[in-house]
Amino acid sequence: MSEVRVEHRMSSGTTRQLAPAVIIRLDRMIQEKRQSGRNDKSSVGAEHTGMAHRQSKKAEDKPPRYKKTECSLVLDFSIFLVWRLTAMLILAINGSPDKSGNTAFLLSRVLEEAKANGAKVDMVHVVDALEDQDKPYCDACSSPCNRSCIDGTNLEQVFNLLEKADGLVLGSPVYFGTVSAQMKAFWDKSRCVRTEKILIGKVGGAVSVGASRFGGQETTVRTLHDIMLIQGMNVIGDGSAGFDAGHQGVCGQKPADEDKEAIKRAKIMGTRIVEEAAKSR
Ligand SMILES: Cc1cc2nc3c(=O)[nH]c(=O)nc-3n(C[C@H](O)[C@H](O)[C@H](O)COP(=O)(O)O)c2cc1C
Repeated sequence: MSEVRVEHRMSSGTTRQLAPAVIIRLDRMIQEKRQSGRNDKSSVGAEHTGMAHRQSKKAEDKPPRYKKTECSLVLDFSIFLVWRLTAMLILAINGSPDKSGNTAFLLSRVLEEAKANGAKVDMVHVVDALEDQDKPYCDACSSPCNRSCIDGTNLEQVFNLLEKADGLVLGSPVYFGTVSAQMKAFWDKSRCVRTEKILIGKVGGAVSVGASRFGGQETTVRTLHDIMLIQGMNVIGDGSAGFDAGHQGVCGQKPADEDKEAIKRAKIMGTRIVEEAAKSR
């Protein structure tokens, strides 16, 4: 019941960014407090019975409940304040060699909406991340990965950013029905991220853009999902509680700035990713 109420609060006005975990805990505590109030009253009526004696003996064993609850409320309120002051980070990874192309355009729409929902946002272009690599692909020089091509390079900085992120949006142009070579090389180079379990439990969505209407956007999204699943992430689609359940991800057609449906789905994904990331904070 309390979870249903949380969903409602989250989608309404100023309270939509409240930390659900804290709200659920507060709800439980209020219920506990009410329950303990009821128990106290019922034991007053049965004062002289043996049952009342047993109940009051039990009560003596435990410290007074209200004290614990009030302490917890203060603690939870402090956690809530800290949570409010440190906004979540939603990070987009652009797999296109074009840093201001169609993929970047749709990723920006997702981020815009995430920002409007209270998140900090940033975008990484894989071409920048791979720029200073001697070999722009993984040749499995060590197993497990000894980070020989990561440490001290752009990739190290990007992987540090992945660690800080609460949610990721992966975007790729459709290249022969799947992700770009650059996007694939970036993730092939992330074996250490997987070993170090940096992304486990983080939320992620996918965006793809092709030149054709049915040019392989869904298969590209599927590949992006596979990449995230193999990193242990929780994959979301392009639906949200306030709209509809959505489908696999944002699928756009070039020119993306004229694709109204893709822009709409990108905005929905921006809302959803913040909702989901908030639950796991
Ligand atoms: C190597 C290559 C392969 C492509 N393969 C496809 C394809 O299979 N299906 C499709 O619809 N578009 C294909 N395209 C077109 C791109 O997906 C399209 O131009 C995309 O919008 C580019 O995104 P960007 O502006 O973010 O780079 C291909 C483009 C290139 C360069």
